Amino acid sequence: MDDDNVLFTITEKSLNTGLRGFPVGRVRTSRVDASEGVSYVGYPIADLASIDPEAAIYLLFNKELPSDDEISGCKSNLASRAKVDPRVIETLKLLPREGHPMEWLITGLSLLGMTGKTGDFMEDGLNLISRSAELIASIYRIRSGWGEPIPSDPSLGLVENFVHMLGVPGADEEKLTKLLRTFYVLHMDHGGGNLSTFTGKAVASGHADQYASLAAAMAGLYGPLHGRANQECLNFVKKVGTTDPDEIEQFVRDTLASGGKIFGFGHAVLRAEDPRATVQYALGQELCPDDPLFKTALAMRERAVKVLKENPKISNPYPNVDAVSGTLLNAAGLVDAEYYTLLFGFARIAGIAAQIVDERVHMRNGRGVPIYRCSYKAENQEPRRLG
Ligand code: MLT
Repeated sequence: MDDDNVLFTITEKSLNTGLRGFPVGRVRTSRVDASEGVSYVGYPIADLASIDPEAAIYLLFNKELPSDDEISGCKSNLASRAKVDPRVIETLKLLPREGHPMEWLITGLSLLGMTGKTGDFMEDGLNLISRSAELIASIYRIRSGWGEPIPSDPSLGLVENFVHMLGVPGADEEKLTKLLRTFYVLHMDHGGGNLSTFTGKAVASGHADQYASLAAAMAGLYGPLHGRANQECLNFVKKVGTTDPDEIEQFVRDTLASGGKIFGFGHAVLRAEDPRATVQYALGQELCPDDPLFKTALAMRERAVKVLKENPKISNPYPNVDAVSGTLLNAAGLVDAEYYTLLFGFARIAGIAAQIVDERVHMRNGRGVPIYRCSYKAENQEPRRLG
């Protein structure tokens, strides 16, 4: 490839656009196509939705799907790393309940780093992925008041052990496990430039360790315009308050007319239905077809798109990954939407850790990507003198 190819022309109009569309690096774990959506190392996400989460982790780190032997080795490897320092869990118990679960996660990642980092990006990345299950399940149980954390059994598998440690009161653990396995694979990675991934790589470019970098990344994910959108989406679906398609269409029209936002639709890069939403709609038909909120979300898939398409200024009227995720989690017994971004983070930690390893260890023939240092065009900075 000609290294002098012009990839993007930056003009004055490009400034203060949030780097939208700026090619700033190479990514080797996934790609987001505007019409096809995300693929992991070339595999369309829909083809991967039912694989073992550990197989998807192996794929993002090794750039090949594992053989049966390799998947067993990967599961054993992650299980061997799962031990969380008890001081982390004891410290979680001291955190203020008012804190959002994502604030607890950001704190918890720093606690994991303080008690277990090695400084090696690959070691810390795999340790973090493995230990995030117990960290997040403990946050869920302690903050929800469900009771003491449930002892970890890593031999069950990453997500299976997570569900075991959650101990969701009254939940169908088989259904919840099936949902969270797919939820995990769908949310792991989404190209190199989404805010949480970009933030994690930027912090790591200064040679901060994986734990500090992932804590920063999760702070990015915490934003309501990014990972916390799934929490807002369920709250929005609840406000619709009907499963009747005509009433739903009218609700959408009234919401737009009053300047409101239709949560779960649109995307900065995608210009078609997010295939991660497509997979979830199908899963909902299998797991909770009669759930009223799922019926509402399903009707929104048609009627909200119909209304949004009427506005030529809307570049993407289609559902994104958040459009139906909350309704599925709610139907499976995880009824507190405040925890949904925590589940997004559980999965995204894997993709970000893998991309940090690529940038720190593999890229530029092992020299790694230099520290991120973009430039800003100065305004109102003409030379002045005191006095
Ligand atoms: C994601 O999965 O990170 C979201 O779709 C946001 C994005 O891709 O920018």
